[in-house]
Amino acid sequence: MNTQETILVIGAAGQIGSDLVLALRKKYGNHNVIATDVKTPVFDVYESGPFEILDVLDKEKVFKMVKTYKVKQVYLLAALLSATAEQNPKFAWNLNMNGLFNVLSLASEGIIEKIFWPSSIAVFGPTSPQINCPQYCTKEPTTVYGISKLSGELWCDYFHKKYGVDVRSIRYPGLISYKSEPGGGTTDYAVHIFHRALMKKNYTCYLKPDTRLPMMYMDDAIRATIELMEADKENIKVRSSYNISGIDFTPDELYKAITTHFADFKIDYAPDKRQAYADSWPKSIDDSIAKEHWNWAHKFDLTTMTAEMIKRLKQP
Ligand code: SER
Repeated sequence: MNTQETILVIGAAGQIGSDLVLALRKKYGNHNVIATDVKTPVFDVYESGPFEILDVLDKEKVFKMVKTYKVKQVYLLAALLSATAEQNPKFAWNLNMNGLFNVLSLASEGIIEKIFWPSSIAVFGPTSPQINCPQYCTKEPTTVYGISKLSGELWCDYFHKKYGVDVRSIRYPGLISYKSEPGGGTTDYAVHIFHRALMKKNYTCYLKPDTRLPMMYMDDAIRATIELMEADKENIKVRSSYNISGIDFTPDELYKAITTHFADFKIDYAPDKRQAYADSWPKSIDDSIAKEHWNWAHKFDLTTMTAEMIKRLKQP
């Protein structure tokens, strides 16, 4: 990317934004990456470059910001995740869909050149294959979040085919990171558990001990995002969203990995509504198409991710 091209990150205060903005700033220069959100982001994001309050549903303001900063690329991260979307389906649909429409429309009018939009393993449902779930298969999501992400994928593909919009997307698995805690997802336990272990407190997990889910350490997810965005246009043949795979584990397996660092750490289980969302998703993902198209490969496994999380969380 030309270093004079400005990038706009919408939803910079969320779990992905907190890491992605810093990675983009490191690569393209602090002042070329405009962080925006409806709330203040983590300190590192706030103090390392431009930050503006922006609601993606305010199309006029999005347009104004794109014009003011001469934005060429948009990373649209603002969304409601699975558990919160279920509590507020109308707002989730409005935010997750109309936010995307606003950005896709700007690209179809030629105002912005490239979009990154995250999808999720939640696009799959109980009728999708559970093990090594492939890129192409039946998708009948049973959550509001999954329905909005699957619809969004179809719109991305449509805008690419109809208007040539250069939109790129990844179906993120559950993401594990230390900079900012996730909010409102089903896979959040895999972050909360570390904070409890570090505080030397017990953890009560809201999923059953044997609930296997696809997961990924944030460093891998950020690298995947930037590699996808930097890949040659002609290699990006999937314009809905790419499966990517990292690790898969159960709460019990993660707990055991953490006890190798904190021998006294204790866990108990009290499954809630989120169990049903987790049960509707695949246990593992096949990412051979992302590997083939843009050479995707994850690095972190359960052991290295656990050690890295603990090391990072211990740092002041
Ligand atoms: N992490 C998301 C959630 O749990 C899934 O993409 O909602």
